[in-house]
Amino acid sequence: MVDYHITLRFLAEPSDINFGGKVHGGAVMKWIDQAGYACAVNWCKQYAVTVYVGGIRFFKPIFIGNLVEIRARLVHTGCSSMHIIVDVFSKRLQDADYVKNTHCLIIFVALGEDGKPVDVPAFQPSTDEEKRLQEYALRLMNLRKSIEDEMKEFY
Ligand SMILES: CC(C)(COP(=O)(O)OP(=O)(O)OC[C@H]1O[C@@H](n2cnc3c(N)ncnc32)[C@H](O)[C@@H]1OP(=O)(O)O)[C@@H](O)C(=O)NCCC(=O)NCCS
Repeated sequence: MVDYHITLRFLAEPSDINFGGKVHGGAVMKWIDQAGYACAVNWCKQYAVTVYVGGIRFFKPIFIGNLVEIRARLVHTGCSSMHIIVDVFSKRLQDADYVKNTHCLIIFVALGEDGKPVDVPAFQPSTDEEKRLQEYALRLMNLRKSIEDEMKEFY
């Protein structure tokens, strides 16, 4: 079976710093996008683009020199879309436990050589945990409909 999750692990570098001396939110968003991209392409085996990112919440700051772990996990597929949960954790190198810094859902769409969406292999959840996370993705999809209706005027 094709792997449906991926973990990136690296040190937060001084170049990731914000004006307050911690990791820049933009750097975290870039890591989320990279982990989601790697997870999506690993699943569909072709080029994919980000179509949506939602629910990003920065719970706790990440400090320069922390070990950062980005866990991306495919939880649902549509025809061309791949719904991926990304969790960001960090810890001081000398600490045992990670703290969770961020959680979000990111959606990628697989594109063919003509730049149009193409079908991806269907994700079939089998464990209780996989089913629970797919249901979560489906509930978020329904919630997004009303948010998008509200925002449509500004699209
Ligand atoms: C991704 C893109 C090709 C989709 O084009 P489109 O005309 O909306 O295509 P479709 O309507 O056929 O939708 C394709 C898929 O995207 C999904 N999608 C479209 N808008 C979405 C949204 N707001 N939220 C979640 N999924 C969305 C659709 O549900 C569909 O999924 P499915 O095939 O699993 O049913 C196009 O929007 C695009 O090129 N966007 C820019 C991508 C990009 O450059 N990303 C980098 C960041 S700038």
